[in-house]
Amino acid sequence: MTSPPPPRQRPAWEALEAHHVEVASLHLRDLFAANPDRGQRLRAEAEGLYLDYSKNRITDETIGLLLDLARESNLAGRRDQMFRGDHVNVSEDRAVLHVALRMPKGTSLVVDGVDVVQEVHAVLDQMAAFADQVRSGKWKGHTGKPIKNVVNIGIGGSDLGPVMAYEALRFYSQRDLTFRFVSNVDATDFVEAVRDLNADETLFIISSKTFTTLETLTNARSARAWLIDQLGDAAAVARHFVAVSTNAPSVAEFGIDTANMFGFWDWVGGRYSMDSAIGLSTMIAIGPEGFAELLAGFHAMDEHFRTAPFEENLPVLMGMIAVWNRDFFACPTVGVMPYDQYLKRLPAYLQQLTMESNGKHVSLDGTTVACETGPIYWGEPGTNGQHSFYQLIHQGTTVVPVDLIGFAKSLNPLGEHHDILSSNVFAQAQALAFGKTEDELRSEGTPEHEVAHRVMKGNRPTNVLLAEVLTPRLLGSLIALYEHSVFTQGAIWGIDSYDQWGVELGKVLAVQIIPELESGSEPVLSHDSSTNALIEHYRALKRKEDPDGDR
Ligand code: F6P
Repeated sequence: MTSPPPPRQRPAWEALEAHHVEVASLHLRDLFAANPDRGQRLRAEAEGLYLDYSKNRITDETIGLLLDLARESNLAGRRDQMFRGDHVNVSEDRAVLHVALRMPKGTSLVVDGVDVVQEVHAVLDQMAAFADQVRSGKWKGHTGKPIKNVVNIGIGGSDLGPVMAYEALRFYSQRDLTFRFVSNVDATDFVEAVRDLNADETLFIISSKTFTTLETLTNARSARAWLIDQLGDAAAVARHFVAVSTNAPSVAEFGIDTANMFGFWDWVGGRYSMDSAIGLSTMIAIGPEGFAELLAGFHAMDEHFRTAPFEENLPVLMGMIAVWNRDFFACPTVGVMPYDQYLKRLPAYLQQLTMESNGKHVSLDGTTVACETGPIYWGEPGTNGQHSFYQLIHQGTTVVPVDLIGFAKSLNPLGEHHDILSSNVFAQAQALAFGKTEDELRSEGTPEHEVAHRVMKGNRPTNVLLAEVLTPRLLGSLIALYEHSVFTQGAIWGIDSYDQWGVELGKVLAVQIIPELESGSEPVLSHDSSTNALIEHYRALKRKEDPDGDR
């Protein structure tokens, strides 16, 4: 299959550039007035997710051209390559098969001579047996007590997926178990996480794909020391530590019995791993059946992405609209605002998924990309954001496309809370699209000196995602939607969405600096003058006596 030309040289890209000039002068107010059924037409629905994309600065022609661009970019071909296990992660020469993690038992996908689905289900069965033991109290700690606390130690994809999923599905979790998540190498994270826990009732899950990550191994060593100190016996590690990793030798070297290790594979990227064994804490929280529902939701969206026509395909539509906003309207960021408290960690999770995947400046062939790639993702649960940064989204000089995610039913119905919450989803999308004109303000009797300040230009794009209620299945479909939207964008830009070389340099430099900060060893510094001065100042501050002696 021949590769498509660079994005900007594709005919549809050129057509979109010309088309953008026309659309840029249109206001959503006029687009809705001219097409009263726009809100009914520019929507799509799949797997319980209703996507209203009508409040984007698009016309039918825009969608047609964007889908032409998808075709010219060989999106379908790239998608099929991923699903069949080709090495689409070219810079690391690896298959990218998170979709195999949720293929149903009994199906098969043979990659490099191995049926990966069978392997996936063997690990899922191992996880289920362990999760059931912990949940039922049959798994006993070193002193014979059942486990009450589960602490996941990991970082990046080995933390953000588990913590996001635990928070999202907390409603369905076994409430007599406590879950904590330690990621930051800042000791405060670990110390505060275990402060009120009894070691003899605590299970540590050390989650690290590589089992070489400095932050995770440092926290894991501190956890081991804390446990041994509390229980007074190094043998306690066997009943209180399990590992999730692809690296059995390092797990064994750390002192965890590999019988208590849950494996996965190099074809699962860290940020795509929450539904692999990395989801062990999720499975302990919601049970194997709940976890199976989560996987079913992922798989259903995979199938939708794989088979639905582009015109009705949610990840394709969301991905292409993201490209439109990024490359043609030059929007540098995207806001993600879940109107559900349980999804409070979704923005952080999506930051890694989107930005580690598509924050790239090099094409698959190693040449510099000639267009903008991944935008900055950020967000907070609604309605908190409204009382903080929405001012800028409404009236600032930067246009921020926003995904608003809402649910028709609350898991915690209480008085009028839910309708008040949900009214804001619709109201914010309305206000951002239509704004308020000077004429409207004057006709409402707004004092003249306030008019200019109160004008809301509107014409600010949103996607609204609406679902019935947050369930494990729905969460799986929602995450898969974003995964495949990220894939779609990466395919258009012609980048490798599955490597992350940009995180390496900082790690290497930090390892060089660590010994320069250690007390008692103050070697001559040979960095740039700024780094030297900062380290010297750090050393001086570190030497200072605490005048009260209370720290
Ligand atoms: O440094 C980035 C990264 O490699 C992520 O891609 C990954 O999710 C994270 O570190 C953690 O890696 P590991 O699971 O190997 O500890």
